[in-house]
Amino acid sequence: MAKRIDGKAIAAKVRAQVACTVAALAEKGVKPGLAVVIVGDDPASRTYVNNKKKACAEAGIYSEEYALPAQTTQRELMELVARLNEKRDIHGILVQSPLPKGLDEEAVVEAINPEKDVDAFHPSNVGRIMIGNYHFLPCTPAGVIELLRSEQIEIAGKNCVVIGRSNIVGKPMAMLLLHNNGTVTICHSKTKDLKEICKNADILVAAVGKPKFVTADMVKPGAVVIDVGMDRDENGKLCGDVDFANVEKIASYITPVPGGVGPMTIAMLLRNTVTAAKRQCGIVE
Ligand code: GUN
Repeated sequence: MAKRIDGKAIAAKVRAQVACTVAALAEKGVKPGLAVVIVGDDPASRTYVNNKKKACAEAGIYSEEYALPAQTTQRELMELVARLNEKRDIHGILVQSPLPKGLDEEAVVEAINPEKDVDAFHPSNVGRIMIGNYHFLPCTPAGVIELLRSEQIEIAGKNCVVIGRSNIVGKPMAMLLLHNNGTVTICHSKTKDLKEICKNADILVAAVGKPKFVTADMVKPGAVVIDVGMDRDENGKLCGDVDFANVEKIASYITPVPGGVGPMTIAMLLRNTVTAAKRQCGIVE
């Protein structure tokens, strides 16, 4: 039976560390600030944004919410980002994705000052990640690395397989595993022999967005299985990309959904916001 990696507990530790750093910064007159922009009324986005604001408050980070109607124009959104770029009390800017149809998300992300891009979605930050000289890491992949580190799971020399090639998770995840000296394979919808490739993985990261996509016959006994999915099963119940009940029986470590990777994403966002504040206030790490 696999050990369940308790993302909630590990995230709580990271958040406590962040709160400590925030308290130390307060003595230097610095209060990290995050602006969260949400456009439209997608219920999942609303929940994420509420959770992010609550986590900020708990860590002592100042946050501002900008909730705009779905009819917001590209120009209005770009103007808001430009204003936030200039705001001295705001060190991090996050535009919750997805944006309503008709808005150009790429242009919005490119308009964010890279120093305030706590999601690490700006091309300049993405490029820095590729090179390995980065200020911020995207929150979800960074959270996965933190989970592996917390459990003292070695990445170097391991066969790491990432299923999914999104800009938010799959691609940066592969790059971070590579920076940690893993031997990395990225699989996607056109991959041939997916099962065979997955069966070779010592560390398998599922970021597909399909409920229970990874079945036990795709997993090598003793593998570490990380589930980035946030899906709904046939009964509408929250589940991940991994068939947890069956994979748990053969893996060595596994992350549950909920309570695995999810809580780490917010913890890493808080950490990035503090890093941004330090950098903008000339406090070197
Ligand atoms: N939507 C889903 N995940 C994320 C995220 O990490 N950041 C932003 N901005 N939007 C998201």
